[in-house]
Amino acid sequence: MPAIDQILTERFQAAIVRAFGGEHAGVDPLIRPSANVKFGDYQANVAMGLAKKLKRKPRDVAGEIVAALDLDGVCDGIEIAGPGFVNLTLAGSYLVDAVHRLAADASLGIVPASDPVTVVVDYSSPNVAKDMHVGHLRSTVIGDCICRVLGCLGHRVIRQNHLGDWGTQFGMLIEMLILQGEGAGRDDSVSDLESFYRQAKEKFDADEAFAERSRQRVVALQSGDEQTRALWRRLVDVSQSHFQKIYQRLGVLLEPEDVRPESAYNDDLSATVEALDGAGQLHESRGARVVYPEGFTDREDEPMAVIVQKTDGGYLYATTDLAAARYRMDVLGASRVVYVIGAPQAQHMAMVFQILRQCGWAPDETRLEHVAFGSMLGSDRKPFRTRAGGTVKLVELLDQAAQRAGSVLAEKNADIPEGQRAAIAECVGIGALKYADLSSDRIKDYVFDWDRMLAMEGNTAPYLINAYVRIRSIFRKGGVDPSALARQPVELSAPAERALAVSLLQLPGVIDSVAQSLEPHRLCTYLYELASQFHQFYEQCPVLTADSEAQRDSRVVLCDLVARSLATGLDLLGIQVVEQM
Ligand code: ARG
Repeated sequence: MPAIDQILTERFQAAIVRAFGGEHAGVDPLIRPSANVKFGDYQANVAMGLAKKLKRKPRDVAGEIVAALDLDGVCDGIEIAGPGFVNLTLAGSYLVDAVHRLAADASLGIVPASDPVTVVVDYSSPNVAKDMHVGHLRSTVIGDCICRVLGCLGHRVIRQNHLGDWGTQFGMLIEMLILQGEGAGRDDSVSDLESFYRQAKEKFDADEAFAERSRQRVVALQSGDEQTRALWRRLVDVSQSHFQKIYQRLGVLLEPEDVRPESAYNDDLSATVEALDGAGQLHESRGARVVYPEGFTDREDEPMAVIVQKTDGGYLYATTDLAAARYRMDVLGASRVVYVIGAPQAQHMAMVFQILRQCGWAPDETRLEHVAFGSMLGSDRKPFRTRAGGTVKLVELLDQAAQRAGSVLAEKNADIPEGQRAAIAECVGIGALKYADLSSDRIKDYVFDWDRMLAMEGNTAPYLINAYVRIRSIFRKGGVDPSALARQPVELSAPAERALAVSLLQLPGVIDSVAQSLEPHRLCTYLYELASQFHQFYEQCPVLTADSEAQRDSRVVLCDLVARSLATGLDLLGIQVVEQM
């Protein structure tokens, strides 16, 4: 059974063809859930755009579509409003039927995409010998949600952690390792990577002999000197195991095999530059080799250059990105490549995409998308920092999230035994942290606020998890097994029951829209509305003390659908539910 949005879309498309002819086949009728029940359950907004094309009045176009529309058994109210909106009210019998079917469907109406594709998602991508900071948190959390959503629709998702493990800074890091007597094989010298990096940098700036050794070390590293490579490997391994611990704690999908670091492309870089030459795109500029992406000009209106090879022969971040993109398309077979990277790299990404296009390496059908995001801000609306002004370490942030959630839980429910509370707090705290990130429109900066993200009311993970917990406790209290009732007929007599039913049918459409827009906040908004509607329903419609057994069973089915929708939705966000809190 197709999702309701799809049924409405198909019926409208048929009506448009009937009314205006086959040349309008496949027009998107712009079916959207209505913001207010006053306007029905759904709206079709196609008439305005179509009227422009047809040079007709939008209301007349809407009228002709409605006259040709066959929505028997689906809608029992069709109204034209305002400039030409078509407001649709679902038929009671359709809703009852659809909810009944949903209850027996383990996948909640979510159907695999008809055209599954191979998608590469580049996310997290922290840098070796530097701690992961809050900027990487956003990439990790958003990217992971995107992988889960695309995966649940049956796309072949390939995760790529484009680890920053190469560059001239490794010369000084390796020299520092030697200076600190690494020969003994001590790993603790680099366990605090951030301070190790700082020490190396300080030494590099203060000690000319050290700086010179560092520069030679870069040459040794690049030419593959064995001892140097082994030391470099150590730095990479220590960092990687540190990142992996954070991924585990965050509950993200990234595994060591998803790491394909910058250095993996080293051997492709000269070939990439040659291929640019072969495509007629390589130019010389002051001794460096550059490419001019079409459409990019600087303030003086001069074409902007992307350097791919420096005068000294060294390659750059952009060269690696070009090589990586080719690998992703040609070897991994991606027809959609998604880069989850902060907004400051927007121009870099746009230029890389343009070069891939003008070289003919990325065909038009291949989607290249920069999933950009804004910064995390402190309460002073400045970039998020510690009180002392340093960058905030992710591990400390996770510890604090769990600890603060623990205090909230202790206040809310003192009956939970101490031992269980810690596990629940970890789940709720980290869930709250992730949810705060995912629920705001990603392109905007957002203000990091512990109290808000941990609040039991509002668009927060605790609020959603609590709605799930409440439903599960109703079942426990009433001794009901909802799965045994999944095939019971449902009754939708109260307005709150009806509203809940309409929302429950929307989950598949919302997931599709996240897969298209790569905007996780749409799923959060939906889940929040669903939970709020559940609370209204719960106040107005007694479940265990319903008027009749049939009504009770029907309400149990609705509750169970809400619980399953919340758990599924949260899981797609990478957040786990708990059974009590
Ligand atoms: N390591 C980079 C950074 O921390 C992010 C890499 C993103 N991915 C890419 N293909 N450029 O800024």
